[in-house]
Amino acid sequence: MSFQIAIDGPAGAGKSTIARMVAKEKGFIYVDTGAMYRAMAYYLLCKGVAMEDEDAIGRECAGARISIRYEKGEQIVLLNGENVNGVIRTEEVSKMSSMSSKHPKVRQRLTQLQKELAGTSDVVMDGRDIGTCVLPDADVKIYLTASVEVRANRRYEEQKQKGIECDLEQIAEDIAKRDEQDMNREIAPLKQAEDAIMVDSSYMTIKEVSDKILDLCKDI
Ligand code: DC
Repeated sequence: MSFQIAIDGPAGAGKSTIARMVAKEKGFIYVDTGAMYRAMAYYLLCKGVAMEDEDAIGRECAGARISIRYEKGEQIVLLNGENVNGVIRTEEVSKMSSMSSKHPKVRQRLTQLQKELAGTSDVVMDGRDIGTCVLPDADVKIYLTASVEVRANRRYEEQKQKGIECDLEQIAEDIAKRDEQDMNREIAPLKQAEDAIMVDSSYMTIKEVSDKILDLCKDI
């Protein structure tokens, strides 16, 4: 039996930073499930599928073969055999992934892949439905969140540091919209699992969050 740590929460709460740190500390693999939904969204965009066209999403998603491999500990997402890590972090892909991840066929395919990965390796897996659907028996479940304002500010600072011009209000609006979509979809919505521990990172440093989560995982 492999060990499983599930970290769920809204966009920008710091899940991937923390999950990566915990995985390194524990010697587990880190599985970023959002990247898989992004690869699927990228595929659909390349196929010219419109964000609102649910029939086309259901039809076209069958053509996307998504898998992952690791290079120097980093997760590489492969879409039909090609590394797409460099093209899945755009705003357009973020929006499409929030729309296409509502679709049952998209979820079915990616959930199956995620379960398979967790069956063969010790994992720290982050996403929206890991503790509730993908790994309901995970050894530790964390729900990592932060206020919309704090998450928008973090994103704004990140973009500014990269020299990308952006508007704080627009970022906050986009984050709130994605939360709304992720939390209110019919299948596998983002929510705290009953047995998950909530960590609100709004006023915590990265070190404080990772110390807290490592402490919660100390017995596995
Ligand atoms: O974590 P992220 O922002 O990279 O995720 C991109 C989108 O994928 C997000 O809007 C919700 C969706 N997603 C999901 O529905 N289920 C997951 N387990 C992970 C992500």
